[in-house]
Amino acid sequence: MSGFSADWLALREPVDALARNQELTAQLIAWRRQPGFLSVLDLGSGTGANLRFLAPWLSDQQYWRLVDADPILLADGATRFANPGGVAVERLCLDLTDSWERLEAVKPTLVTASALLDLVSADWLESLAQCCQAWQAAVLIVLSYDGTILWEPALADDHRVCAWVNRHQYTDKGFGPALGPDAAPALAALLADRGYQVALRPSPWRLGPEHAAMQTALLAGWVDAAQQIGPDRAGELTAWANQRQVWIAQGQSRLTVGHWDLFATLKAA
Ligand SMILES: C[S@@+](CC[C@H](N)C(=O)[O-])C[C@H]1O[C@@H](n2cnc3c(N)ncnc32)[C@H](O)[C@@H]1O
Repeated sequence: MSGFSADWLALREPVDALARNQELTAQLIAWRRQPGFLSVLDLGSGTGANLRFLAPWLSDQQYWRLVDADPILLADGATRFANPGGVAVERLCLDLTDSWERLEAVKPTLVTASALLDLVSADWLESLAQCCQAWQAAVLIVLSYDGTILWEPALADDHRVCAWVNRHQYTDKGFGPALGPDAAPALAALLADRGYQVALRPSPWRLGPEHAAMQTALLAGWVDAAQQIGPDRAGELTAWANQRQVWIAQGQSRLTVGHWDLFATLKAA
């Protein structure tokens, strides 16, 4: 178990699909116009949201390897969703913290991940960039949190809670000290150093009253994270969260959460 439930991934999947940066999706589709077999490695795949979004845009002759440490999420994806037409899919239960040797034989043409990057450390990112270059693979990494949380209506403590959440972002999620909001720009720099042409673009969630369930889930997760960082401030946090929950229930709450999408291809030699 990873701490990410299938219900949470299902809640965010349609919001993620709308948030993805359209310019980078178009760049990926244009890149895919080159003929041939497409082998995709999806890191931290969960139930397969990335596969479901991307495969229909990428024509036939696709083989996807979905890798995740959580067997429940992998099994849920396999039983609840049919594979996109004409796409071969393999699901591999693997802890990505120390499994580069097992992945090295894969040789994908596209490495992708969705909502994973903010969990990883600088060392892990270095290994990822090294493998992508060795494979000569294109890289599409989407929905990496960028540190921005904007609530409407605003409250005086919004800033403080966001700062606590962002401090929690840097704690270890199994990969060593996490890079949190710095991860996507860090990967962009590593890939550029390795001869990649890199595009980094925003992909914010824009949640309105119709996303009350997702706002409530995010609020609960952030209160939990903030409590771990500032346990002595529980009183302020509870008052802040109660007011936020009232506005969500009344259909008055809007929330923007910033993300980065990254697309990179090797420059022609
Ligand atoms: C926020 S979820 C995103 C899932 C999916 N990509 C999506 O967009 O719905 C992060 C995923 O990373 C996986 N994960 C976290 N740590 C991992 C590790 N050490 N090895 C493999 N997968 C891991 C979790 O199990 C989870 O499925």
